[in-house]
Amino acid sequence: MASPVVLGIESSCDETGAGLVRDGRLLGHAVASSMDEHARFGGVVPEIAARAHVQALTPVIRRALENAGLGYGDIGAVAVTTGPGLSGALQVGVSGAKALAYALGVPLHGVHHLAGHVAADTLDHGPLPQPCMVLVVSGGHTSLLLVRDLVRDPITHLGDTLDDAAGECFDKVARIFGLPYPGGPAVDRAARDGDPYAVDFPRPLAASRAYPYGFSFSGLKTAAARWAERHRAAGAELPLHDGAASLQEAVADVLTAKAVAACTDHGVGTLVVVGGVAANSRVRALAEERCRAAGITLRVPRPGLCTDNGAMIAAVGDLLVRAGAAPAPLHLSIDPSAPLHLAALTPGLAPEAAV
Ligand code: KG4
Ligand code: ZN
Repeated sequence: MASPVVLGIESSCDETGAGLVRDGRLLGHAVASSMDEHARFGGVVPEIAARAHVQALTPVIRRALENAGLGYGDIGAVAVTTGPGLSGALQVGVSGAKALAYALGVPLHGVHHLAGHVAADTLDHGPLPQPCMVLVVSGGHTSLLLVRDLVRDPITHLGDTLDDAAGECFDKVARIFGLPYPGGPAVDRAARDGDPYAVDFPRPLAASRAYPYGFSFSGLKTAAARWAERHRAAGAELPLHDGAASLQEAVADVLTAKAVAACTDHGVGTLVVVGGVAANSRVRALAEERCRAAGITLRVPRPGLCTDNGAMIAAVGDLLVRAGAAPAPLHLSIDPSAPLHLAALTPGLAPEAAV
């Protein structure tokens, strides 16, 4: 018997996403972003994001359904991001998901946002090998995760950023460089015409014994800010392309070196790179090069599935449904700072996953 179509809803930050997945297959998805409304503030404004979700949620779900050639009556389960993220933004998605699940009489599942990023890759490349190493690099997270069965086993959190996330570093430095928000894609574009070795930016925690899988990007951000200040104080034009290329090289170098080392140290043969920064051209190229040299298989989803979307949440929901996870109660709550331990943020898990 075919498993049900799972609708996934994502609203943890500035993207409103809806996706439909069945049996590991993406049937259709749609995303709306309030990014432009935040641009003049140089970062996401939580209240603006929450209001934008209110306006976008229903149209985005309708677009995802149209995209898949399905109607509301075809939805067999609803999965929604319950955390981590901005509380007002999360509330909108969770409220919408509850209303739909109740009205349609279908089960509801709460999903951890980072587990969604991990599962995104299954929509492009099939089931994840067990175990695999996952580098989640986004605007809010920089984490190395050892993943076994994504929905049944606890996830081992090997390391995190001690301060700024990699995407946050791109966003903040881009602002200092006078590039538009979001900074990551802008730095990526500016870097194309630059020399990645023009500026010797630091590689924070690169050789740290205390934090072998930990990251730190705030010192790098400060180094880039000082570099820009020095040029401006001297009345010189900022060599923007070289600065962007060198910054990108420093970030890509640290991320990929630590991710490959984590694989080697743990005897893991597959590295999965996900999250918005996985869309970065240099991160992708250097990960490819270093994985090939180390005999590690690299998996990176298409850029549209790297940034926040509803399909990735539907992918976790689909895995939960097929694993027989018990649905969440309708009083399911958001958890804005949810620690990553299990993919599902609901009390009713498959028995093997309960710890
Ligand atoms: O995963 P995501 O959409 O949202 C979060 O969960 O944070 O990631 C957004 C982050 C932003 O910081 C953005 O600047 C960064 O991903 N990003 C990139 C690129 N595309 C998006 N960073 C570097 N290069 C890119 N091409
Ligand atoms: Zn994200």
